[in-house]
Amino acid sequence: MKLQASDFVARKGLQPIAMLTAYTCPVARALERAGIPVILVGDTVGMVEMGFDSTRHVTLEHMEYHIGAVRRGAPDTHIVGDLPYRTDRDADTALASARRLIAAGADSVKLEGDKYEVIRHLVAHDIPVCGHTGLLPQTAKGFAKVGRSDAEAERIRQEAKGIEEAGAFMMVMEHIPYDLARAITAERGIPTIGIGAGPDCDGQVLVINDALGLGDYWPPFSKQYARASDTILDVARAFSGEVASREFPNNIIKLTGTGS
Ligand code: KIV
Ligand code: NA
Repeated sequence: MKLQASDFVARKGLQPIAMLTAYTCPVARALERAGIPVILVGDTVGMVEMGFDSTRHVTLEHMEYHIGAVRRGAPDTHIVGDLPYRTDRDADTALASARRLIAAGADSVKLEGDKYEVIRHLVAHDIPVCGHTGLLPQTAKGFAKVGRSDAEAERIRQEAKGIEEAGAFMMVMEHIPYDLARAITAERGIPTIGIGAGPDCDGQVLVINDALGLGDYWPPFSKQYARASDTILDVARAFSGEVASREFPNNIIKLTGTGS
């Protein structure tokens, strides 16, 4: 059964929320089968699937393509769609952008930072919004942890407050000190979903490629539950070797018949 924004708010303090990103239909199908309650079609797709060096290259068209694929794979799972860089730059632009992601199959949208006016406008038009504070990849200079100084920590605390007060139903907190994440989680009435934010958030999110070990770089706070890149290498080498030796396709023809 597909969860709605209010269901996630109701889980706060009761049941940790496991969020994974997905960009393709077969991955989304597996996440739904596993009972993952919320899939994020993140603009990380630009980096982990498209080979860009920043999420800033991702467009609404890219997001529509990937959200559509994920929706076809996970018809009964809540999908959060990321608003790409600058498509949320003002309230009207953000509403038009968000409506495209919803039409493509998203149930809610996510946007980065302190755009409270934009959040209010989307929520007023019945589009649930997930906030995102801490490290903001669309505008950050690098990927270092933020919120280490007292002043920065206070700014992020206020931003989390502003995001909730603007009407967001949930928020991602990326790469901030664990004690700051714990304090914000305790202060706020909406679920906090951490990535590199320690154990005391209401949920955790991983980029699926990081969790799969599909890529050649993984952030230190991620965990590789598999080594999918090694599997692909093994498969490609095995296939290549069998074509060279003419084992393939003879070895499957023996199993399935003559092909006539
Ligand atoms: O785009 C994304 O995958 C994200 C997560 C890192 C939270 O925003
Ligand atoms: Na993102």
